[in-house]
Amino acid sequence: MIRERIEELRRQLDYHNHKYYVENAPEISDFEFDAMMHELQRLEAEHPEYADPTSPTMRVGSDLCAEFQTVRHRYPMLSLGNTYSTDELHEFIERIEREVGPTEYVCELKFDGTAISLTYEHGRLTQAVTRGDGVAGDDVTANVRTIRSVPLRLRGEGWPELFEIRGEILMPYASFDRLNAEREANGEQLFANPRNAAAGTLKQQASSVVARRGLDCTLYQLAGDRLPFTNHWGSLQKAREWGFKVSEHMRICRNTEEVDAFIAHWDEARRSLPFPTDGVVIKVNDFAMRRRLGFTAKAPKWAVAYKFKAEQALTRLESVSFQVGRTGAITPVANLDPVLLAGTTVRRATLHNAEQMAQLDIRPGDMVYVEKGGEIIPKITGVELAERPADSRPFEYITCCPVCHTPLVRYEGEAKHYCPNQSGCRPQIIGRILHFIRRKALDIEGLGEETVELLYDNGLLHDISDLYDLKAEQLAPLPRLGEKSAENIIRSIRRSTEVPFRRVLFGLGIRFVGETTAKYLADHFRSLEAVMQASREELVEADEVGGKIADAILEYFADAENRRIIERLRRAGLQFETATRELASEALAGRSFVVSGRFSRSREEMKELIEQHGGRNLSAVSGNVDFLVAGEKMGPEKRKKAEKLGVRILSEEEFLKMLETGADPQEEVPAAETHSAVPAQQASGESAADRPDPRQGELF
Ligand code: IVH
Repeated sequence: MIRERIEELRRQLDYHNHKYYVENAPEISDFEFDAMMHELQRLEAEHPEYADPTSPTMRVGSDLCAEFQTVRHRYPMLSLGNTYSTDELHEFIERIEREVGPTEYVCELKFDGTAISLTYEHGRLTQAVTRGDGVAGDDVTANVRTIRSVPLRLRGEGWPELFEIRGEILMPYASFDRLNAEREANGEQLFANPRNAAAGTLKQQASSVVARRGLDCTLYQLAGDRLPFTNHWGSLQKAREWGFKVSEHMRICRNTEEVDAFIAHWDEARRSLPFPTDGVVIKVNDFAMRRRLGFTAKAPKWAVAYKFKAEQALTRLESVSFQVGRTGAITPVANLDPVLLAGTTVRRATLHNAEQMAQLDIRPGDMVYVEKGGEIIPKITGVELAERPADSRPFEYITCCPVCHTPLVRYEGEAKHYCPNQSGCRPQIIGRILHFIRRKALDIEGLGEETVELLYDNGLLHDISDLYDLKAEQLAPLPRLGEKSAENIIRSIRRSTEVPFRRVLFGLGIRFVGETTAKYLADHFRSLEAVMQASREELVEADEVGGKIADAILEYFADAENRRIIERLRRAGLQFETATRELASEALAGRSFVVSGRFSRSREEMKELIEQHGGRNLSAVSGNVDFLVAGEKMGPEKRKKAEKLGVRILSEEEFLKMLETGADPQEEVPAAETHSAVPAQQASGESAADRPDPRQGELF
């Protein structure tokens, strides 16, 4: 009874989800949809035995941190040859016709997002992997499940038992604008363009964050062995029937004129699309012909991407100013005669660094080409030399900081100049304080840029440690503050002493130590003391920390001023240690697990048990995994892979026994030997000989 109701709700929700997110034609109200979703969530919570990763409830994501496993692609994800020139495009078509005769081309939009490969087994989404280096990518299944237009279960019939479908994960402009507006309000760094935002979102650790970001997914290519299609067009029509979002904006073209017309149309019409595109992809339709045409080392010979030119404008460079960032990095900025470009008026553009300026030989008074390559900040791409004033002379880059006049320095391997006066240069000090208080760091509310500048200029705030000596009476008289805001700020500062160590470490603003690196450092060293005492060799032992980061950390702590600030922060009571959670036992310490299939309790509970007993959860079977806990209905592929890699397989019962004793219940091989039993080349994935011919599947 309950089980049927659960299945019925899942079917209904899948149907309406597809109507809304794929077809853009909802049949029921959000309210009705939510009511069904809540009923399903309640039933699933009450009956964990019916849990299913393809249930629509899984689309809300989870707050658990994912560790992305690297997965080898069954068929490599190739790239496309590309061109900006119609002549080259015509040559491409001529070459094809020389080799296989007149043929049909499918013209599609080139979506400007991030590539993804989805695996479906028995009509269910089982894996989503990023392109990575084309040979192996990151398993981002949990995140992709939250994208509403990706079907978790297929509709219709006739889908192959196992196949992959590839496409692009996109962030529509509306989601992008909303996301950046939110980030701006929180003082967070903005995403430069929807492509970066889509890629960044997909690598988010918590899938619940992905669920809220409004990603979309359009599919354009099937891959598999012996797929039942003879051409591309037909395969995509079928994919659409199975519930995938396949672009409406495709056309079959039979000659260069038709291809040119498709391009000319979309070069203009793309401006009114709700998502970003950067060109047109032209593909031979017929699979038999594709086979004859074959591949180069990197790309198929039967397809090419024609890229749209970025919009350009020509305007005068009035002057160059220089910005000083919180790390002291100097960025030259062009002040332009205002010009209309892609719908907005552009007044400033980045010039990147001295080298870039020298390369362009850019001089004030020049007429320059400005481009908006989908970036927030437009850039200058060239100079119109024909219009250069006769008396112009090469631009001389500054040698001293424009603010504090300290001579600038260049670090090896860095294109930018830096002002080394960290403790005395106003924009650097203010930038560091703003970084420290931002939401992802100490999350101190109520202090904006202007207030921080004011506090600094009034001598109340010289560095981040001064924050903890501020008094409400000092803040209240400042413009736009008053007593109430002053008290809120003080309360928020006090609350920040409870912010976890990893965020404090991030907040210090050590060069190259971003949010993720700070987390890895905090996990590895567990206290600031330990980070400070670590040698270069010890630092690079932490995940994701290389020589460059290690050097920056050493340099930071070698500075007496930084050590003084840290001492004051310590006295203010900030968290300088990673909180250890109370473990139920250490039975599983040092061992890693993958949990798969159905159990008498939910999979989340199984994972929680593993962590409570000191173990580590990983999301996919690889050489790094010690145990695969196999529940009912676990896929045979997983078992096979585990067996091949020498990963021990435990039943639920054996696993529970292990919790009690800490000993591996299958005694014949001691647990400590499982790692060494796996040869290195196997640990990184399957060997090439075991996989189907990579080219075979890519044809379809
Ligand atoms: S087909 C073997 N079709 O462009 C070729 N790719 O520059 C498979 N892309 O990695 C790709 N829109 O991420 C294809 N309609 C489209 C596309 C498309 C965007 C991306 C894709 C690919 C990159 C190659």
